[in-house]
Amino acid sequence: MTNIYQPKEAIISEIKRLTANTKHFTLRFSNSRDRENFNFDFGQFIMLSVLGFGEIPLGVSSSPDCKENFEIGVRKSGTVTSGLFKLKLGDKVGLRGPFGKGIKPNDLKYKSIALIAGGVGLVPLRSLIQYVSWHRKDFGRVSLIYGAKSRFELLYKDEHKNWQKTIDTFFTVDEDIGDWTGQVGLVTKICNPENLKYEDSIAIVCGPPVMYKSVAEKLKGLGFQDKDIYLLLERQMKCGVGKCQHCVCDGKYVCQDGPVFTYEEAKEIKGMV
Ligand SMILES: Cc1cc2nc3c(=O)[nH]c(=O)nc-3n(C[C@H](O)[C@H](O)[C@H](O)COP(=O)(O)OP(=O)(O)OC[C@H]3O[C@@H](n4cnc5c(N)ncnc54)[C@H](O)[C@@H]3O)c2cc1C
Ligand code: FES
Repeated sequence: MTNIYQPKEAIISEIKRLTANTKHFTLRFSNSRDRENFNFDFGQFIMLSVLGFGEIPLGVSSSPDCKENFEIGVRKSGTVTSGLFKLKLGDKVGLRGPFGKGIKPNDLKYKSIALIAGGVGLVPLRSLIQYVSWHRKDFGRVSLIYGAKSRFELLYKDEHKNWQKTIDTFFTVDEDIGDWTGQVGLVTKICNPENLKYEDSIAIVCGPPVMYKSVAEKLKGLGFQDKDIYLLLERQMKCGVGKCQHCVCDGKYVCQDGPVFTYEEAKEIKGMV
């Protein structure tokens, strides 16, 4: 029987700095069977453990198609992420999961998709961007609306040109510093009909908690229905599997009932958005 608390060993095979406080890690399970069995849906999360520091939930930033290696993007924010940032190539981490309810790639087939990301919320959406670029004919129009604090905080800058070959991208920053010639303001400012209005489309939103309600309401104004707006939500998590109660919000377990909720579901859960 599988022990859901037993981490599997993975090795860090690449580290790239994305911004001053964010790093991209490529990981590879040590065991080939673990590599073959690692299947996940968009928005599901893993529990990553760093020896001597602890365990944290993280999204996956690479496409579910990537079997040999997979990628994560991490912002340094406290104990475990600082421990992770000290690791070097070849060091080992522990992994459990994937956990939670995500969005199945097949459920998105032939749809148009609006991706709306704020800050480090772009990390799990990059998985979908990568997937779309490899299966382009399976999708309608795909747009990315992405906001960061400043141009120095924009993630995956070296990939943006490549993304623009397959999807429409619209970026905005809060602070107009360091030679920025683009849009300034919150992401809601660029959620407009030119960038987002199209038939049979769904929206997927990931970002800081403060962003969800205003973005969802803006999308509704553009004609999106509550059931077609997916929110990737975060809560403090410990077990990741519905046992410890750390993630519970108004009776819902974010680790099991989520972390992906439609706006239709989330707005009925007190304190969720
Ligand atoms: C489903 C899910 C997916 C996530 N995906 C990513 C990801 O792809 N990349 C990434 O960088 N981060 C992600 N996070 C957030 C990440 O788990 C936290 O940054 C991490 O747990 C902080 O751990 P720490 O020990 O370094 O910081 P701590 O020392 O525990 O805390 C540092 C500060 O961060 C706050 N904090 C801790 N956990 C969270 C949380 N879950 N949400 C909001 N604030 C928190 C604490 O209250 C404290 O103020 C995700 C969280 C969840 C629940
Ligand atoms: S994280 Fe333990 S119950 Fe959800």
